[in-house]
Amino acid sequence: MFQGKSVAITGASGGIGRAVAEMFLAGGAKVAISDLTCPTETANAIGAVAFKCDVSEESQVEDFIDSASAANGPVDIFVANAGVGYGDEKHAAGASNKAWELSWKINVMQSVYASRVLLPEWKERGGGRLIVTASAAGLMAQIGSASYTVTKHAVAAFAEQVAFEHAHQGVKVNCICPQYVRTNMTKGFSMAENSPDGFLEPSDVANALKLAIEEDRFLVLPHAVVGEYFKHRAADVDGYIAGMAKLKSKLKAETLPIKS
Ligand SMILES: NC(=O)c1ccc[n+]([C@@H]2O[C@H](COP(=O)([O-])OP(=O)(O)OC[C@H]3O[C@@H](n4cnc5c(N)ncnc54)[C@H](O)[C@@H]3O)[C@@H](O)[C@H]2O)c1
Repeated sequence: MFQGKSVAITGASGGIGRAVAEMFLAGGAKVAISDLTCPTETANAIGAVAFKCDVSEESQVEDFIDSASAANGPVDIFVANAGVGYGDEKHAAGASNKAWELSWKINVMQSVYASRVLLPEWKERGGGRLIVTASAAGLMAQIGSASYTVTKHAVAAFAEQVAFEHAHQGVKVNCICPQYVRTNMTKGFSMAENSPDGFLEPSDVANALKLAIEEDRFLVLPHAVVGEYFKHRAADVDGYIAGMAKLKSKLKAETLPIKS
């Protein structure tokens, strides 16, 4: 399905990024992966090429796209997957400015930096695909990290904007919005492990992405129930807030879903 496509994925030394890389490789794509430290071992294991890219730096995102293009041909599909979450301290505005700034740059601006390079190229070439790994927290506010909720909402909105602004140029966009997935990010979270909505594997997310691409859908909802919650919140935002307040009052601090 992706025969010969050049795919570039950030934050892909493991977790969802690695699973998405494997899904594209299985479909015949040529894949470049990157992370904070060069993920050579993962690349060798799966048959990708590896580069170092700190997505909080615009020049490094540009360099990654250049390197991926040199290795595999001009980038057809960019997956902005790297992400961070920092827990709130004491209250909803309690995370440090540093945590907010990093969340903003990594969770949001990496997609802007990549799009600045790729949208003009894709316009010339007649199309391309931007994929952002947002979160269910990008559709509905979640407990424990305001900076995560806000920045994931922002990147989901950016993805939506790109989707309609550039549809006529053949640009496609997918926005991946899972709840809990078994990766380094959720290691040790009892709330994730015991989630009544399911604790998915990274490969489940990659399979949901593949299906969404096949069916030409913007939203990728590996936990189908997220779609139901999203509709409920749109129909009754006060009910959603009341429900989350009730849930919050039941939680102990150590079970909060996001850690630094
Ligand atoms: N695991 C979940 O439950 C879950 C749920 C919803 C969304 N997500 C999102 O999925 C994406 C992938 O996370 P994951 O769950 O696979 O966890 P993960 O920890 O395996 O992957 C995140 C990757 O981002 C990398 N990263 C962090 N800062 C970076 C930076 N400045 N530059 C480059 N890379 C950086 C990390 O090194 C790591 O490899 C993230 O955007 C995360 O927010 C995860």
